Amino acid sequence: VETTRRSLQAKRLQALPVYLFEDLASKRLKKEAEGVEVIDLSIGDPDLGAPSTAIENLKRNLGQKHLHGYTPEAVNRVFRQAVSRWMRERFNVEIDPDSEVLPVIGTKEGLAHLTMATADPNDVVLVPDPAYPVYARSTILAGAKAVTMPLSPEEDYLPRLDDFRGVQPKLVFLNYPNNPTSATAEKAFYEEAVAFARSTGALLVNDAAYSEVCFDGYHSCSILEVAGAKEVAVEFHSFSKTFSMAGWRVGFVVGSRRAIDALAKLKCNLDSGVFAPILLAASSLLEQGWEEHARMIAEYGKRRRMLIEALAASNFEYHDSPATLYIWVRIPNGGSSVEFAEKLLDRAGLLVAPGCGFGEYGEGYFRLSVTCPTEKVEIACERLREVNGI
Ligand SMILES: Cc1ncc(COP(=O)(O)O)c(C=O)c1O
Repeated sequence: VETTRRSLQAKRLQALPVYLFEDLASKRLKKEAEGVEVIDLSIGDPDLGAPSTAIENLKRNLGQKHLHGYTPEAVNRVFRQAVSRWMRERFNVEIDPDSEVLPVIGTKEGLAHLTMATADPNDVVLVPDPAYPVYARSTILAGAKAVTMPLSPEEDYLPRLDDFRGVQPKLVFLNYPNNPTSATAEKAFYEEAVAFARSTGALLVNDAAYSEVCFDGYHSCSILEVAGAKEVAVEFHSFSKTFSMAGWRVGFVVGSRRAIDALAKLKCNLDSGVFAPILLAASSLLEQGWEEHARMIAEYGKRRRMLIEALAASNFEYHDSPATLYIWVRIPNGGSSVEFAEKLLDRAGLLVAPGCGFGEYGEGYFRLSVTCPTEKVEIACERLREVNGI
């Protein structure tokens, strides 16, 4: 009897691009087997650990057994109110805690599910390139069509939205402060984006995961500061980056009621929310976590300056920005970013993220992350200074 082998993976899963960096990971292991201490500057996983405000709050609430079940609505409400107060204090934006906020299990979860909750097959979703891969991948999973908006240094890494009027997008992903380029957006750009959404009917999704990772007195702004933005935009915020607690899995989305209703409808069929003691700890941070936050940012800022000085000493060209956990660096003399990353690993024991992993317009660049312990960053800087002319 002839058997046909069917793939276990659904077609939409098969449609996802393969992981680009497998080769690099195996080369790293080889290097380590040779006895080289590889310093990993490739991933953006904040290493400082959650503020003690959150840890103490969590410890107290873990003893409360009535919080061990499915998250009580009263706890969700405490969180939504804390978010609403913070949005007012930080951005002067009014958010209705009952209809314009939703907790998410990390912004990655929220972003991906929002795409699935709103994009139909054949809908166009505008996705920046280079970018955090979840925007394009969730679009593929939704069966919708991702259309690339190139980001270039000539345009300060802001998309030329007017070029895309003709495609009638359903969703437009924006991400400022930006991963991987570290670029920032000011209110004038958000005003342009809101006008674009109003005239095209698109929903703007601003991923503001790095909104609180700012240095040297810089304050990022919220897309919701623009008058009327709440009708056409949502914004995601993440405790992972703001408070160095990526493993806790908590964030939130604020803005358009219609979008939040759609996401809530999908999520109540897929998950059962964030663990109540985690929501309460996160709420306490929005109120009392800012001194500890400032100390963390000072530490990341110190590493960033160290890396920037080492890059400059080696004549690397980088994007100068007051925000994010990343430095976006041009590969000297152009060329393949994967090959360059392999060369850095081989000659200097440094692991960096090749730009092409963020999309075709990331080619020719690599990304350094400041989420590596300061003593290791020091060693990385010495090695970077030695690779001049690689
Ligand atoms: C731009 C961007 N958005 C979202 C996320 C995901 O964050 P979270 O831990 O909140 O899911 C990341 C993580 O690296 C990111 O870089």
